[in-house]
Amino acid sequence: MATHSEPFKQLATRRLNSIPEAAELLRAGRLVAFPTETVYGLGVDAYNTAAVERLFLAKGRPSDNPLIVHVASPQDWPRVARTMTESAAAFLAALSPGPLTVVLPKHPLISPLVTAGLDTVGVRIPACQQARELLQAVQRPIAAPSANRSGKPSCTTWQAVLEDLDGRIDALLQGTVSAVGLESTVVNCCGPVPVLLRAGAISLADLQAVVPETMTMQPTMLGTPQWLASPGLRHPHYQPAARVQLVDLWTEIALPDLPHLLSQASIQPMIYKAAYAGLTPHPLAKQFELHATFATVEEYAAHFYEFLRRADRLQVEVIYLQRAGEEGIGHALRDRQQRAAGAI
Ligand code: TXA
Ligand code: MG
Repeated sequence: MATHSEPFKQLATRRLNSIPEAAELLRAGRLVAFPTETVYGLGVDAYNTAAVERLFLAKGRPSDNPLIVHVASPQDWPRVARTMTESAAAFLAALSPGPLTVVLPKHPLISPLVTAGLDTVGVRIPACQQARELLQAVQRPIAAPSANRSGKPSCTTWQAVLEDLDGRIDALLQGTVSAVGLESTVVNCCGPVPVLLRAGAISLADLQAVVPETMTMQPTMLGTPQWLASPGLRHPHYQPAARVQLVDLWTEIALPDLPHLLSQASIQPMIYKAAYAGLTPHPLAKQFELHATFATVEEYAAHFYEFLRRADRLQVEVIYLQRAGEEGIGHALRDRQQRAAGAI
C-alpha cells in the first residue's frame, strides 16, 4: 500500500459560485470540491485515471481506499456499474437521492484507481440541490471522497475545505453547510444478501424496511472476498489534533484531571484548555474553552465535525464527547466518535 505524502506543488485554488464553471473544470480533469448533504466532496472525473491520481496526492489518501462515484439521478447507474442487482434497485428506488451508497459490480470505464483495483464500485446520488445540478451539468460520473486531508475530520463547510486543501486542489464550489453532517451509509449489494459496510443517516432499520435480509458485517465474513469490508475503514479516520475522550455522563470528566488544563493566556479566570460536546449540558460548561449542547442527536451529528475542527483551531488539549445513543443517526455518530478517539 502506498501512502502519498509531501512534497506537493502549490496550486491557486479558485473559489467558485458558478455551477457551470465548476462543471467545466471537472470535465477538463480538474479537482473541484463541492457541497453535498452529508459532507463536502472532492470531485474528479471517474473515467480519467491521471486526474484521479492527482486527487489521491492532494488528499494524501492511501491508494488502497476506494472512492465513491456520484451521479445526478438513479437512472444514471449504467455509467458507473456493470449490472444492477435486485437489492440495490430496491434501495435506490426507496432511499435515493439521499445519504446512501450502494456497492455494485464496476463498469469497465471507471478508472481502476477509483476502486483501488476492486471489481466493485460505490454509487451515490446526493440529494443536495447544488450537487445534483453540478452532476447534471458535468454529464460524467464524478468520483468524490470527503474533501479533507486524509485522516482528518470531514468538512461540512467550504471554509473547512479551504483550511485543509487550499493550494492542493484546483477549485472549490462555495456551497451551503452540509445538513446531515456524517458520510453516507454504504451497503454492499453484490451478494445474496445486502451487507451494511458503513453506518450513516440511513440506519440498518431503514435498510431492512426495504430489504429485510440486510445485515451488518459479521466477524466470520471479514477477509472473505465476496464480503470485503469497506476497505477505507482500516485506516485512521476523523481524528482531530486534540486528544478525544468519550464519556457517557459529564461526571466521568474527573475534576482532578482538569487543573493542569487551565489556560494561562485567558483573561477570564479558570478556563480549561478543553472542549465538551453532548446532549446533556455540562455544569462547568462555561469554564471550557469550547462547549456545545445539542437538542437532538441529528443536530449533534450535523455539527460534529465542525465542533472537532473548532476545538483544533482553539488548540485545546482534550475534547470530551458525550457518547450518542444507538437510535437512528446515533449509531453512525457513535461510530465516528469512536474513530475520532482512535478507538477503532
Ligand atoms: O457521504 C459520502 O459518502 C461522502 C460524500 C462526498 O459523498 N463521501 C465519502 O467518501 O465519505 P470517502 O472516500 O471519505 O469514503 C468512502 C467510503 C470508504 O470507507 C470506502 O472504503 C468505501 O466508501 N468504499 C468505496 N468504494 C467501495 C467498494 N467498492 N467496496 C467497499 N467499500 C467501498
Ligand atoms: Mg472520508
